[in-house]
Amino acid sequence: MFNNRTKIKTLLQGNFVGKEVTVMGWVRTFRNNQFIALNDGSTNNNLQVVIALGLLNDETLKRITTGASLKVKGEIVASLGKGQSIELKAITIEILGDSDAEKYPLQPKKHSLEFLREIAHMRFRTNTFGAVFRIRHSLAFAVHKFFNEKGFVYLHTPIITASDAEGAGEMFKVTTLPIDGTAPKNEDGTINFTEDFFGKATNLTVSGQLEGELGAMAFSDIYTFGPTFRAENSNTTRHLAEFWMIEPEMAFYDIEDNMNLAEEFIQYLISYVIENNKEDLEFLDARLAEEEKQKPQNERQELGLIEKLKFVTDNKFERITYTEAIQILLDSPHYKKKKFKYDVSWGIDMQSEHERYLVEKHFKKPVIVTGYPAAIKAFYMRLNNNCEAGKETVAAMDILAPGIGEIVGGSQREERYDVLVKKMEQFNIPVKEMSWYLDTRRFGTVPHAGFGLGFERMVQFVTGMTNIRDVIPFARTPKNCEF
Ligand code: 4AD
Ligand code: MG
Repeated sequence: MFNNRTKIKTLLQGNFVGKEVTVMGWVRTFRNNQFIALNDGSTNNNLQVVIALGLLNDETLKRITTGASLKVKGEIVASLGKGQSIELKAITIEILGDSDAEKYPLQPKKHSLEFLREIAHMRFRTNTFGAVFRIRHSLAFAVHKFFNEKGFVYLHTPIITASDAEGAGEMFKVTTLPIDGTAPKNEDGTINFTEDFFGKATNLTVSGQLEGELGAMAFSDIYTFGPTFRAENSNTTRHLAEFWMIEPEMAFYDIEDNMNLAEEFIQYLISYVIENNKEDLEFLDARLAEEEKQKPQNERQELGLIEKLKFVTDNKFERITYTEAIQILLDSPHYKKKKFKYDVSWGIDMQSEHERYLVEKHFKKPVIVTGYPAAIKAFYMRLNNNCEAGKETVAAMDILAPGIGEIVGGSQREERYDVLVKKMEQFNIPVKEMSWYLDTRRFGTVPHAGFGLGFERMVQFVTGMTNIRDVIPFARTPKNCEF
C-alpha cells in the first residue's frame, strides 16, 4: 500500500503533536534549504516541513523546487515560527515528481486571472482556485442534500435530445453524418436525417425540463443536475456554452410555491457554504476586499463577500411583477438621465443593465420578478388569467441577484391541454413530435411548476468571482475549447 498519508487539513485541525505521520503534496515554496511550504489541496493552508541540517544531501535539496511532489515522513511538533501552530519535522523525504523551477508556470507571486485562465490545467494549485473549487464542490453536495432531505427524486435527463426545450434554437447539433458535403440529401436539398445515427435530427440538450416534467407527473417532486449546452454567441462574464443547471420540477405547485422553494433553496446553499467552507470564504472575502480597493470609491460594493452572503440568508427576497419593474425603471433617475443603453417600455426583454439596476441600485438585494409578457417567454409557461388584451402575461419568475443578474429562471407550467396546444402552434413548436410531452396533459394533468438555477452563476455569487470562466474547471465559450 502506497497511500498511508494524513491530509494536511486533518493535521492542522487535529491534535497530532508528538505523533509520527506521512504527508504527500506539492511544494509551494522552499526557503533557506530548510523550510518547505507543502500543500495537498485539502486546504489553502500549507504545512511547514522542517529539514534538519544534514538530513538530505545537496543533490536532493536542489530537487525540492516549487511544484515538485513529495512524500514526507516526520513528527508533528509545535512550531516556534510565526504563521503556524504546528510543523512537520522531517525524518525521510522522498521526491515523487520533479518540477523544473524555471519552466514551472506558477511562480510564487500574484498572477492575473486572465493568465491563469490560459493555464487552467495548473490553476487548481493556486489559493484562489483552490478556494473556488472546494466551494463549488460544497455547493454541488448541498444541492443533493437539500433535495434529498425534501424527498425529491434525482432524475437523470438525457444529454442528447431531439427537442428544443426552450424553443430558442441555440443548439449544438449531434450527428454522425459526414460534414464534408457528402451527407445524404432529401429531394429538396435538405439533409436526410433518417440516415443519421438516431434516424432524426438531434442536438445537445439546452435544458432537462421537459423530461423533468414527465418525472414529476409520477414522482411528484424531481430534480435534475447536469450539463446543458447553448450555442449562443454571447461572450460575456455570465455565459458559457456548456454550463451546469439544477432543475427541480414539482407537481401540485403554483408559481408562489415555486418562488418559496427557490428562495429557500438559494438561502440553504449559501448557509451550507458559510458553515462548511469558512476558511475558503474568508480567503475569498479578503481577496475581493483587496480588489475593491483598486476601484474608485463610488464603484465599490457596500458589503464584503461574507456580509453580502449573510444579508441574503437573513432577509427575504423582494418580489415584484414585471409591470412594476418596468415602472421602476421608467421612474428612475438613471432612465431620465438617459443612462440606459437599451430603451425601456412594457414588452421588452429586460437587458442585464436593467436587471442590475433593479437589484444593485434600487432594491440592493435579490429580486424575484413575476408575470412576464407571454411573447418573450417560453411556450410551456402558464398563461395568466384575466390579462388585458394585447398584454398577455405568463406565470414566469426570474430571480435576479446583485452582481450577477438572472440566476434563476422558472415558471408555473401550462397544464391545460387546449391552451398549451394553441400556444405551441403560435410558437411553431411541432405538436405532433411533442406528443409524449402532451400526454402528461392528457392523462391526469395537474398544476405544476419548476425552475432552473444556473450552477456557475450560483458559484459566482458565493465566491464573488466576476468572470464565469473562473468558476468552472474548463470553460467552453465562443472560439475557446482548450483542455
Ligand atoms: O432561464 P433559462 O433559459 O431557463 C430554462 O432553461 C428553464 N428550462 C428552467 C426551468 O424552468 N426548468 O436558464 C435557467 C438558468 C438561468 O437563469 C441562468 O442562471 C442559467 O440557467 N443560464 C446560463 N448559465 C451560464 N451560461 C449560459 N449560457 C446560461 N444560460 C442560462
Ligand atoms: Mg431565463
